[in-house]
Amino acid sequence: MTKVEIEKLGDDYEVCYCMGTTLGEIIEAIKSGATTMEALKDRTEAGTLCGLCESCDIDEDEDREVHLDEIIAAYAQGS
Ligand code: FES
Repeated sequence: MTKVEIEKLGDDYEVCYCMGTTLGEIIEAIKSGATTMEALKDRTEAGTLCGLCESCDIDEDEDREVHLDEIIAAYAQGS
């Protein structure tokens, strides 16, 4: 997913259902240096319960539009 496609979801889009972490919070954390999965989990608590929001490789919930690994890939690389 590209940055533009991710941004279309909006800041209030809930990426992590367990912890209620929104896309806006995740992007903010990456921009302020949490550019690895571990750092992002520490900073936002996203992905720290069931872990399904981490990656589409493990998430069978097709309703979720974007996962943490895709957001990291879009925002932590070359920006
Ligand atoms: S949906 Fe993110 S940890 Fe469960």
